[in-house]
Amino acid sequence: MDVVICRDAETAGKVAADRVAEYIEGLPTPVLGLATGSSPLRLYAELARRVDSGALDVSHGLGFALDEYAGLDPAHPESYRSVITRTVVGPLRMDPARVHVPDGTAEDLQVAADDYDAAIRAAGGVDVQILGIGSNGHLGFNEPFSSFASRTRVKTLTPQTRSDNARFFDSPEQVPTHCVTQGLGTIMDSRAAVLVATGEHKAAAVAAMIEGPVAAVCPGSVLQFHPKAVIVIDEAAASGLAYADYFRGIAG
Ligand code: GLP
Repeated sequence: MDVVICRDAETAGKVAADRVAEYIEGLPTPVLGLATGSSPLRLYAELARRVDSGALDVSHGLGFALDEYAGLDPAHPESYRSVITRTVVGPLRMDPARVHVPDGTAEDLQVAADDYDAAIRAAGGVDVQILGIGSNGHLGFNEPFSSFASRTRVKTLTPQTRSDNARFFDSPEQVPTHCVTQGLGTIMDSRAAVLVATGEHKAAAVAAMIEGPVAAVCPGSVLQFHPKAVIVIDEAAASGLAYADYFRGIAG
C-alpha cells in the first residue's frame, strides 16, 4: 500500500490524477472503476482538464461505477447514474453507452448484479479502480462486516451512511435504505486502486484502513492486501496516522 500525504485537497486531486493517468497510459481500451461521492471530484476535474488540453483521451475507454441506490429512479438527480453522467461521462468525454452503473431498479436485483460482475469480467477487468472511503470505513457501499470475498450484490445501508448522505436529499427519510454495490472481492480484482480521502472527518477511517488490523469492521482495510493500491490523502485526513512522518519521508 502506497500512502501519499498531500498538503491540501487540491494537490491530492492532482496527485491522484497523475496515478490514474500513469496506470492507463498506452492501454488501448482503459477500463475505469468509478466512485461517486465528493472525494474523487477534484481527481475527475483534473482528468477533465487534461482531456480538454489534449493530454488525455479516455473516449475509447469503459467505465464501471461502484454502486447505486436500490429503488431510486435513475433519472433522480442524486442517483449514481445521474452523478456519474454529470461528474465523469460529460467532463471526461466518455461514451455514455460504455459507462455502466449497477441497476438499482431491476426486477431481480441479484440477477442484475451478477450480470454486472459478468460485464466487468467480459471487459477484461478493471485497470484502475477509483475509490473514496466512508466515514465508517466503507468502500463503495460495502458497509462494515461485508465479506472480503463479496461480489456485486444488494446491501442494507447503515444509519451512519444514510445520515452522511442525507445532505444530497430533501429530507433524511428520502435516503434509500438499500443499494447495489460491487463487492470487496470485485474491488480487489482491479489491477490498480487509487483511493482519495480528504478532511478531518475521514481521519479515523483512514487510520483504521492503513494502520489498523485487516478487519471486517473497517472494509477499507482489505486494501492492505491489494497488490497495487495508492492512498492519496490531505494533511487533515492524515491527522490520525501514527506513521505520518514515515509516509512523508518515503514520498520524499
Ligand atoms: C458514498 C459512496 C462511496 C463513497 C463514500 C464517501 O456513500 N457510496 O463510494 O466513497 O460514500 O463519500 P464522500 O467522498 O462524499 O465522503
